[in-house]
Amino acid sequence: MRLFLLFSCSAIMLLEAYRFTDETDMKALLDVKSQVFENKQVALSSWNNSIPLCKWKGVTCGLKHKRVTRLDLAGFQLGGMISPSIGNLSFLILLDLSNNSFAGTIPSEVGNLFRLHYLDVGLNVLGGRSPISLVNCSRLLNLYLYSNNLEGSVPSELGSLTKLVKLNLAINNLKGKLPASLGNLTSLIRLSLRSNRIEGEIPGEIARLNQMILLNLEMNKFSAGFPLAIYNLSSLKFLYLNYNHFSGCLRSDFGKLLPNLQNLNMDGNYFRGVIPATLANISNLQKFAITNNNLTGSIPSGLGKLRNLRFLSLVNNFLGGHSFGDLEFLGALTNCTQLQVLSVIGNRLGGQLPASITNLSINLLVLGLENNFIAGSIPRDIGNLVSLQTLLLKENQLTGLLPASIGKLLQLEDCDLGSNSISGEIPFSIGNLTRLDLLSLLNNSFEGTIPQSLGNCSSLRYLWVGPNKLFGTIPQEIMQIKSLIYLDMSDNSLTGSLPKDVGRLENLVDLWIGNNKLSGQLPHSLGSCLSMETLLLHGNYFYGAIPDIRGLKGLKNVDLSNNNLSGSIPGYLANFSSLEYLNLSINNFEGSVPTEGKFQSANIVSVFGNKNLCGGIKELNLKPCFTEAPSMVSKRSLFVKKVVIGVSVGVSFLLLLVVASVSL
Ligand SMILES: *[C@@H]1O[C@H](CO)[C@@H](O)[C@H](O)[C@H]1NC(C)=O
Ligand SMILES: *[C@@H]1O[C@H](CO)[C@@H](O)[C@H](O)[C@H]1NC(C)=O
Ligand SMILES: *[C@@H]1O[C@H](CO)[C@@H](O)[C@H](O)[C@H]1NC(C)=O
Ligand SMILES: *[C@@H]1O[C@H](CO)[C@@H](O)[C@H](O)[C@H]1NC(C)=O
Ligand SMILES: *[C@@H]1O[C@H](CO)[C@@H](O)[C@H](O)[C@H]1NC(C)=O
Ligand SMILES: *[C@@H]1O[C@H](CO)[C@@H](O)[C@H](O)[C@H]1NC(C)=O
Ligand SMILES: *[C@@H]1O[C@H](CO)[C@@H](O)[C@H](O)[C@H]1NC(C)=O
Ligand SMILES: *[C@@H]1O[C@H](CO)[C@@H](O)[C@H](O)[C@H]1NC(C)=O
Ligand SMILES: *[C@@H]1O[C@H](CO)[C@@H](O)[C@H](O)[C@H]1NC(C)=O
Ligand SMILES: *[C@@H]1O[C@H](CO)[C@@H](O)[C@H](O)[C@H]1NC(C)=O
Ligand SMILES: *[C@@H]1O[C@H](CO)[C@@H](O)[C@H](O)[C@H]1NC(C)=O
Ligand SMILES: *[C@@H]1O[C@H](CO)[C@@H](O)[C@H](O)[C@H]1NC(C)=O
Repeated sequence: MRLFLLFSCSAIMLLEAYRFTDETDMKALLDVKSQVFENKQVALSSWNNSIPLCKWKGVTCGLKHKRVTRLDLAGFQLGGMISPSIGNLSFLILLDLSNNSFAGTIPSEVGNLFRLHYLDVGLNVLGGRSPISLVNCSRLLNLYLYSNNLEGSVPSELGSLTKLVKLNLAINNLKGKLPASLGNLTSLIRLSLRSNRIEGEIPGEIARLNQMILLNLEMNKFSAGFPLAIYNLSSLKFLYLNYNHFSGCLRSDFGKLLPNLQNLNMDGNYFRGVIPATLANISNLQKFAITNNNLTGSIPSGLGKLRNLRFLSLVNNFLGGHSFGDLEFLGALTNCTQLQVLSVIGNRLGGQLPASITNLSINLLVLGLENNFIAGSIPRDIGNLVSLQTLLLKENQLTGLLPASIGKLLQLEDCDLGSNSISGEIPFSIGNLTRLDLLSLLNNSFEGTIPQSLGNCSSLRYLWVGPNKLFGTIPQEIMQIKSLIYLDMSDNSLTGSLPKDVGRLENLVDLWIGNNKLSGQLPHSLGSCLSMETLLLHGNYFYGAIPDIRGLKGLKNVDLSNNNLSGSIPGYLANFSSLEYLNLSINNFEGSVPTEGKFQSANIVSVFGNKNLCGGIKELNLKPCFTEAPSMVSKRSLFVKKVVIGVSVGVSFLLLLVVASVSL
């Protein structure tokens, strides 16, 4: 009897399932299709009567009952609306519409799909509120609504989906506070609310989510102290609190409470106080970032115990005390053999740069110590860090030489040593660094000549050797670096001329060579640097005429002042529409200064200190010219001019007569 009942029950269910196959599911799917806009008209072409429903693309049916159990249209490039008929597919277990362009709202009929385990509508352009009817999908394990335009607050009804394991609401327009009911989702393992506008405190009820492995609150407006509830989530491996308004101190037992963390990001908050020493107890910690906060105190040497540490960024805090001992942690970190990124830029770290940095991980890609108070010199064996791509030491108090071993850092792309007091020569070996993109030696005490080998750095875009004590000529080889965009050699004692083939630098935007002892004529090829915006040649001994640069129409800032340049001022400069500053003063230019275009403003053009210039607008206070172009001159002044010419011709004729008669 019991057996019979069981049998008949499932038979009825099967019958029912079959009976509805064509009618319900097919009708529903065709209705779904009718609301879809298909870019390529191919994805859903198999959805037609000549093909059995269960073979339609993206459709999977149950083995026995042949009802649609899975509908997976992820990445089908579909647009349009999601038809409410989707709610008639009552046997659905999985519904994946992600990575399409569905607009409109999530139809509330989705709430009828009570068998759903998996619902993904991420990566669409769905708006409105997330439907409350979802609470009826009580078997949901995975709910993905990320990357849409969902509005309103996180619905507190979600708290009744107690089977949820993964909930992703990232990248929407959700605001308001986080509902306490989320504390009921005790099976939750991953929760992402990233990139919304959710505010206020994290409710204490979250402490109950003790299965949680990933919690992403990044880029919201959460405030108050480090959420106490999070200290209870001892299973957490991934915790992202970055870019919120969190403040206050971190508990000293931080590392003991969250011992399983692998990835901890707290960038861009207002955390203050010290880095808890117990971070050293998080033996699996791989990434720790707390950039842009208000931390103080020292950097714990215990971090050296983190054998798996790959990424450590403490950039822009108030760590260190300008003193001896601040850099002890660097020695300790030599035990972190996986370390790839170490950046403590923008703190108050003092003391001598320890030679032990040369024993840091051979895998180190980034070493950022810039903008601190670090003294001492760059250790001789810096070349040991053979994987280094980025070396940022600028704005410290470093002295001594730049070791030749830098030439072993063949992966180096960014090397910024600016604003220190490094002296001695630029090592020839620097030419080994063929991947260099930026080399800044700005504002140091380098002396000697610029090495020709630099010409081998064929990827350089930024070459800055401005204020230093360099002498000798500008190496011809520099003009081989086609990639150069910014070249600053200003404020040195360079001699010789500007190399003739400067025109090969066709990507050059800024050329700064002011305040040197350069001489000679400006090369014609300058006119080929068609990307040029800033041309600073002031304070040298250049002479001769301005070469034909009529092609450099993007010029914004031009300073040729304090040279011995002569000839006339090229009229085409008046029509350079981007020109903001043109300084020609203290030279030997002659002839008339244009009055049109850019020359109408004394805020742009400066020409004083040229004895033989005339004309120009009144504000330039030059003497008038007597040989203006006829087209520009009125009849009256033409008459005046004729008279003047006539008179002066007459006078000189008379003079000639006088001279002739005297000498006779
Ligand atoms: C979906 O179901 C509703 C109610 O059962 C029915 O009115 C509607 O016609 C169905 N839609 C389709 C496309 O079959
Ligand atoms: C049905 O789909 C199949 C497969 O995409 C296609 O070959 C066939 O032409 C379609 N039939 C109709 C009537 O659209
Ligand atoms: C989205 O779908 C496109 C194809 O339509 C695919 O190339 C892309 O990798 C998918 N993106 C994601 C994040 O799945
Ligand atoms: C959930 O389902 C019940 C019964 O099926 C229905 O009465 C209720 O309106 C549904 N709730 C929502 C929010 O759709
Ligand atoms: C969640 O749990 C609280 C008790 O912590 C209970 O009062 C509340 O009704 C539950 N909320 C939902 C939406 O199930
Ligand atoms: C959170 O941890 C504290 C002890 O640190 C404990 O007193 C509290 O009961 C925990 N809360 C929950 C919800 O587990
Ligand atoms: C953090 O430091 C900044 C100065 O950099 C200061 O203006 C701000 O008040 C500090 N905030 C907190 C919460 O300590
Ligand atoms: C944490 O680290 C400290 C010092 O390194 C050590 O004494 C202590 O036993 C560790 N505690 C735990 C719970 O691992
Ligand atoms: C590195 O680890 C070794 C072995 O655990 C230890 O003896 C040494 O003191 C550590 N070095 C530093 C600089 O912390
Ligand atoms: C680097 O490590 C080696 C081996 O541990 C050691 O002998 C050497 O003194 C260290 N060098 C520096 C500069 O700390
Ligand atoms: C040059 O470096 C010194 C420190 O060596 C610093 O005080 C000064 O501000 C820097 N000048 C510029 C223009 O960066
Ligand atoms: C680097 O350059 C120097 C001198 O230019 C050369 O002797 C040396 O072999 C080069 N080193 C590497 C690793 O290429």
